[in-house]
Amino acid sequence: MTVLPVMKMGRPILRERAVEVADPSDPQIAALAADMIETMEAEEGIGIAAPQVDVPLRLIVVLPIVERAQKKQAPPEPLVVINPEIVPLGDELVDGVEGCLSIPGLRGDVPRYRRIRWSGFGLDGQAIGGEAGDLVARVFQHEVDHLDGVLYLDRMRDLRSLGFVDALEGEDGQTPDDPAERE
Ligand code: NI
Repeated sequence: MTVLPVMKMGRPILRERAVEVADPSDPQIAALAADMIETMEAEEGIGIAAPQVDVPLRLIVVLPIVERAQKKQAPPEPLVVINPEIVPLGDELVDGVEGCLSIPGLRGDVPRYRRIRWSGFGLDGQAIGGEAGDLVARVFQHEVDHLDGVLYLDRMRDLRSLGFVDALEGEDGQTPDDPAERE
């Protein structure tokens, strides 16, 4: 397994629609997923999409972590979803803080559906799916957006919540305006 370079905002691949994976059970897809998981873990991310490692395929990894506060617990198994689809459950949108491995150092508030139903295929080629809420639903929406060339900045309703992580957390020597942004 290999930690792959993460494409940063500005790379055209992050603005293009990724294409469906023809054969989810292809061993090359399993190898890519393993590298994506290793890359996500090396970057301390909670999700990653194939275009972020310069592969224009519809494949995402989601760490189904329930709360950021539970980070100290053993991490859950990463969920690999090939050709993912998501459908909102209800109209409720909630703002939450997001960052992106392709936009390092920044965080901002992004509205997302609170609950979703997701579906797709696993590495064995079998159909998989389920429901997700809150942070996991947020990560799904963020990663599927990557497959459509959408970045979280595009979804922000108020760019004034955008900031550098170290400034938001007061680690630049200043007092943070909003300590609730900590994660
Ligand atoms: Ni991202």
